[in-house]
Amino acid sequence: MIIIEELEEKDVEAVSAIEERTFSMPWSAKDFLQMIHDKNALYLTAKSDGIPIACCGVRNILGDGEITNVVVDEPYRGKGIGSRMLSELLKKGKQMGIEAFTLEVRKSNEAAIGLYEKAGFVTEGIRKNFYERPVEDGLIMWKR
Ligand SMILES: CC(C)(COP(=O)(O)OP(=O)(O)OC[C@H]1O[C@@H](n2cnc3c(N)ncnc32)[C@H](O)[C@@H]1OP(=O)(O)O)[C@@H](O)C(=O)NCCC(=O)NCCS
Repeated sequence: MIIIEELEEKDVEAVSAIEERTFSMPWSAKDFLQMIHDKNALYLTAKSDGIPIACCGVRNILGDGEITNVVVDEPYRGKGIGSRMLSELLKKGKQMGIEAFTLEVRKSNEAAIGLYEKAGFVTEGIRKNFYERPVEDGLIMWKR
């Protein structure tokens, strides 16, 4: 069974391992620990049999929610877990006073763009060469 809950200290090693398997510039366990202790941040994890298999987070910056670290471990993709986790993050984000949500995504990342569009995000701009390793433009998406 998949459950979604707030990220806790005991989860950060597993979640940073998923980041390492997925991203060229992964967050470390220490980076996630800092977010857990940031009162303006909310990080969620999806767990299968108690083991973290996905993560996403948001930081509330004066009512704008900056979403980062959206990731589902490879074997669990395409099963609706990303969608479930993101909608939970949006719901909880609103409860902490976020009025509009924003994120950046690689221009070529069709899966993530599909996920965000399904959740109601719209592309409002492009950041030229925003990403490194490899260099790529970033789409700026908003859900207002
Ligand atoms: C992007 C990611 C989080 C999606 O998670 P997921 O659990 O696989 O997504 P879901 O199964 O909930 O799918 C939700 C929607 O996303 C889109 N989507 C998901 N996988 C897709 C794919 N391979 N190709 C195109 N669209 C896709 C679809 O619109 C899908 O809706 P649908 O099932 O009704 O068609 C996952 O692919 C991932 O971890 N990718 C690597 C990390 C990453 O790129 N993160 C985003 C950084 S900005």
